[in-house]
Amino acid sequence: MTLSRRGFLGLTGLTIAGGAGVGGMAGCGSRAAGSGQTAELLTSSLALPRRFTVALPIPTVKQPSGSADGADLYEIVQREADLEIVPGFQTPVFGYDGSFPGPTILSRRGRPIRVRHTNRLPVPTVVHLHGGHTPAESDGYPVDLLLPEGGVQLRGDAAHDMGGDVRAGSRVHSYPMDQLAATLWYHDHRMDFTAPQVWRGLAGFHLVHDEEEEGLGLPSGERDVPLMICDRAFQSDGQFRYPAIDPTMLERRGVQEDYMEGVLGDVILVNGAPWPMLEVDAARYRLRILNASNARRYDLRLDPAPNRGPGFVQIGSDGGLLAAPIEHASITVAAAERFDVVVDFGTYPVGSEVTLRNALGSGSTADVMRFRVVRTATDDSQLPEKLTELERLAPADAQIHREWSFSRGAVGEHAGWTINGLAFDPDRMDAEVKLGEVEIWRFFTDLHHPVHVHLNSFQVVGRNGGDPGPFDAGWKDTVDIRPAEYVDVAVRFSDHAGKFLMHCHNLEHEDMAMMSAFRTR
Ligand code: C2O
Ligand code: CU
Ligand code: CU
Repeated sequence: MTLSRRGFLGLTGLTIAGGAGVGGMAGCGSRAAGSGQTAELLTSSLALPRRFTVALPIPTVKQPSGSADGADLYEIVQREADLEIVPGFQTPVFGYDGSFPGPTILSRRGRPIRVRHTNRLPVPTVVHLHGGHTPAESDGYPVDLLLPEGGVQLRGDAAHDMGGDVRAGSRVHSYPMDQLAATLWYHDHRMDFTAPQVWRGLAGFHLVHDEEEEGLGLPSGERDVPLMICDRAFQSDGQFRYPAIDPTMLERRGVQEDYMEGVLGDVILVNGAPWPMLEVDAARYRLRILNASNARRYDLRLDPAPNRGPGFVQIGSDGGLLAAPIEHASITVAAAERFDVVVDFGTYPVGSEVTLRNALGSGSTADVMRFRVVRTATDDSQLPEKLTELERLAPADAQIHREWSFSRGAVGEHAGWTINGLAFDPDRMDAEVKLGEVEIWRFFTDLHHPVHVHLNSFQVVGRNGGDPGPFDAGWKDTVDIRPAEYVDVAVRFSDHAGKFLMHCHNLEHEDMAMMSAFRTR
């Protein structure tokens, strides 16, 4: 078992910023500074497809294969497939059931499910249900590898025994689903290789429903649309382009030095289609926005804005419904965040084209998708003024305060990303946390870091000592932290004792050691 991680091969020659803390790298670290990104653009070498021509795909809903002991059972096979993402080209993907996005799992609060994942890919994988309130053994600890059914020869970095619960072929994840209705997603979480494997397609939705949410009369059925937004780059032959040092993902981890701040693509995909188009009724829609990008942040707005009312009415955040709707003209979404919003296309004349734009993008990345309002329709949906009784975690109850500083730093002999100056070590517990107690965690950053905590959602208490930001409401499991900022959150882990993770959800940072483990007891 290796207790400490070796450095990243191929990342030599970079200046390592010393020390952790606020402000050390602000303003000078990011070549993309000013664009709202901590990452580097990778461009495609094929002609970019025309925007707003491909229909928005809706991921298929996974049907259970059966049930046992009050739990629904699902079978997912992780396999390679060739998909037509850019019209006229075939893109090999790693897909849950061979699709990208993977199939959507629908579950109900309080009804447990079990998902058996079988790995027919050429690489080890780990499945994590992001936002799941999941016992440790099913949460997808990054060293709990699922090796390919047909065997695999790992070498170099990838061959280190990291002491996880390693299985071959298949693994069953048990999810109690003892949690609020919310938009969750599942994705790969393999130690050191999450970024390239998610980029290749390993991500899907998992939507949790409950009676309270269903009783609100929100737009539903075809008017409840999940939108998985992510950026990619393509090679001239249609393959995804990614700057991995080792494209086989079997030997060496890490990306080429220029991309260590994160990888941005020049093609925006929604549900796996480039700049798609969705025909809508002149009615309210619920859009479940997920930023599944490795590193890209978006500032989403509707163009044109509606004549009356706000562009977006936010009804939910990462972990469930808001207490009351919040109106936004635009929404800033960092990697892994979800915004559950209602858009009223009934405010646009029939025939209108409404484009979802990204004010943090430029050129091709300034566009996301388009809606075409094609018909009038009856709309019996509601948008209640009160959505739920949101339990507030009281910061005053917190006995324990912890500080976590996210910064560039040395990982072994090389440059990487650290928390409190340390590279991730799966065997080192950076906090021992008592179940049931409210704690205040303060996250400091040097650059942009979207910070994610497993096991339970948290609540944002404030930014830089002031009030929370406009996108911080409700239960969050990922918080967008800007350069040289600090954010205080109130956490409370209700149950499940064991080892869990918190980490930066810029997936390149995550793979370059910006993770921390804590133990609940
Ligand atoms: Cu979305 Cu630890 O991950
Ligand atoms: Cu997670
Ligand atoms: Cu980061």
